[in-house]
Parts: sequence; structure tokens; C-alpha cells
Amino acid sequence: MTLTPASLRWLQTDQAQPWLTQVTAHPPGDADLLATLTQLRRLLPAEQAAVLVEQARLRQEGAAKFPAASRMFFTKPLLAQASSTPLAEHTARRFRGQSWVADLGCGLGGDALALAPFANVLAVDIDPLAIALAQANAHALGCGAAVRTVQADVRLPAWRLPAAWADPGRRLDGRRLFDPERLLPPLSVLLAQHRRAIPDMGIKLMPGLPHAAIPAEAEAEWISLEGELKETVLWLGGLAEAGVRRATVLPAGVSLVWTGAQADLRLPCAWLYEPDPAVIRAGAVGDLAVQLGLWQIDAEIAYLSGDHVQLTPWARVWPVIEHLPFDLKTLNRRLRTLDGEVVAVKKRGSPIEPEAFRRRLSSRPGGRPLVVVVTRQGGKPWTLICGTPVSPEPDV
Ligand SMILES: C[S@@+](CC[C@H](N)C(=O)[O-])C[C@H]1O[C@@H](n2cnc3c(N)ncnc32)[C@H](O)[C@@H]1O
Repeated sequence: MTLTPASLRWLQTDQAQPWLTQVTAHPPGDADLLATLTQLRRLLPAEQAAVLVEQARLRQEGAAKFPAASRMFFTKPLLAQASSTPLAEHTARRFRGQSWVADLGCGLGGDALALAPFANVLAVDIDPLAIALAQANAHALGCGAAVRTVQADVRLPAWRLPAAWADPGRRLDGRRLFDPERLLPPLSVLLAQHRRAIPDMGIKLMPGLPHAAIPAEAEAEWISLEGELKETVLWLGGLAEAGVRRATVLPAGVSLVWTGAQADLRLPCAWLYEPDPAVIRAGAVGDLAVQLGLWQIDAEIAYLSGDHVQLTPWARVWPVIEHLPFDLKTLNRRLRTLDGEVVAVKKRGSPIEPEAFRRRLSSRPGGRPLVVVVTRQGGKPWTLICGTPVSPEPDV
């Protein structure tokens, strides 16, 4: 079943709302899907039963991105492309003080909803179903008055706006797009719109955006959420500090600006730090080292070390038990002496395949949990034997 503008209109009626509330409270899983549909079909047309069940299941899935998902409306592809609330709220804050912001390619409204507390929003999309969803979601969350919608092509040269946010599509036929010029619409089209008639603009792009694609006049912000790099945002005009490269870590909400600072280079010591991927991508590992009083173990590798532990949103931290030049025989001898279980192998700057390498290591099930890190130190292959991370992370 795929949602249509007509079935979405039905879902918003007084007749459908009690059903939707009821099914949303108990969304069927795969096992009881057929039983729930059969039960609903006794009371409602098959199409309505299917659309209710689909919405309830998508609302459950949407809760990973939206705290208010149980009141929202989704399609699977637009949910996959939607900005999650913490990311959207962070970027929306830059528009504080603007009277109007256009959301160019609004999808189901993830960003438009976050922009609404700061400005009036003109939500634009080429897809009529996206427009209907953005409208429905704005009404459902009580910001219908601040969000106007219009179905249109953002590539048209007709736009003349004080400020805009753009989140171009990054998927085509279910596949991710990695080239900024293949985005929907392409980055160059959005930049041309900015230069022509939209002075203040934010453009959300893939986390791996090549640095060469960043215009000189832009500020670039790499944003991670829960330790995962999510996006690069280009800020332009009055929203930007031109030339700035910034790493932002959410949910902590801290940000670090690249200055080109160089870290000292030394052997590892008692603690190993792995910087957040936003810091690495912004090229700010040296800045982080200086800020935290750490050093780098290799000029080319984004591992830092220090002689005391600091719990920081900027990095994950492992206690170093010992470190040695890379040699499998010596490593296995040391692991037998430590009588540990190797629970994970991590690597940076090494060609090993971690899981295959782990199977070649001496490891006693139930022994002291150990993490083996394979990397380089001063240009040479190096190994660290660590304990489990002390940062509050769910896994190693
Ligand atoms: C990544 S999604 C936006 C998701 C949205 N920011 C959210 O959080 O829900 C990109 C959207 O751009 C729209 N789009 C692609 N090309 C467009 C164009 N030329 N004009 C208008 N909208 C377009 C797509 O229909 C899609 O809904």
C-alpha cells in the first residue's frame, strides 16, 4: 500500500482519526500483520485498513527520528530522507531573526517543522505528496499557521527570497548518491540560486562532501549525532562565517573551529582517544589535541593519546594496557600473558580486515575484555592492547 494525497486526506478526517490513534497505539509487527488487517477489513474497506496499518508501522519507525512521530504522517521513502529532529533543530537555529525562510525541497517537512519556531516558512517541493505530507505534519504539530506550502520546481529562476534552507535528495531509485552534482537538485544549481537571488542560504549535503566542492565564500559545518557523522552543511551569505570549517557534535551541542593547529607527535601513553568523525572530517584533529592537551601518535592518523582520562563529547577513550610494534607472534604472546578475551579489533591506517584478524588472535572466552587497535606510530605499523572504552558508548 502506498499513501496517496487522497488517502492522506482521509487519514486526517474525524472518521479516520480514532482508528489511526488506536492502530498507532498497537502497531502490528510482521507476525501479526495479517491478523490485524483481517480484523480491520471486517469494519473498514480494505484500502483504508491497509493505509491505517501502514501509517501505524511508519509512525513506529519514525520515532527514531521524530519524538512526535506518533502524531505525524509518513511515506517510507520520505521518512528515509527526512532530517531527524535533533539535526533539524540545530540547523534551524541559524535562521533565528529571519522573517521568512524558504525550505527548498521540503519533503515531509522534517526541516520545515524545526524552522517554524524561528521564522515563517515557505515549504517548496516538486512532489505533490511531499507537499501534502508537509502540510499535514505542520497542522498535526500545531505549526500550520507558520508553514505555507507550494508545489514547484526549485530549479526555476523565479525565486527571489531573503533566506532559504535546501536539503537536496541524496537517493535515486533507492541508491545513495555521492556526487554533489547528481543531487536532486544539484549543488551547482542551488549555489547559482544563492548567487542570483537568495542572499542567505544553508545547504545540507552528504557527510563525505569533497572539500574541493566547498566554495570559498561558504562556511562548512560537519555535524555528527551520537558519534555518527550525518551531514555537511554549507552556510552562505549572512548565515556564514566565510572560510570557517566547523565540527559540531550532537546531542552535546558543542562545536570546534579548525585553525590549522598541529598536535605534538609522541608515542602512545595511558589513554587512547579517537576523535568524533565530525572533527576528523573538518580536519580539526590538531585543534582538538591542543584543546584537550593531547598528542597525536602519527602525523597521518587520527588517534590521539594522553596521560590522563577526560570524558569528553569530542572523543571516545580507551585505557591503553600496552603498545608494541606490529608483530602477530609477539602480540599473541602478550595476549596470552594478559589472559584476555579480544572483544574487538579496531584499525586506522592499516590494511588488515578487523574480523578476520581477530580470528587469528589468542583470546580466552570469558577472560578480561580487550580491544586490539592496529594502526601506525611514527610511520611504522603499531599495535595497542586496550581495555574497553570508558566513554559512555554502547559498543566498542
Ligand atoms: C532529502 S528530501 C528533503 C527532506 C526534508 N528536508 C525533511 O527533513 O523531511 C529532498 C526533497 O527534494 C525534493 N526535490 C527534488 N528535486 C526538486 C526540485 N527540482 N524542486 C523541488 N523539490 C525537489 C524531493 O521531492 C524531496 O522531497
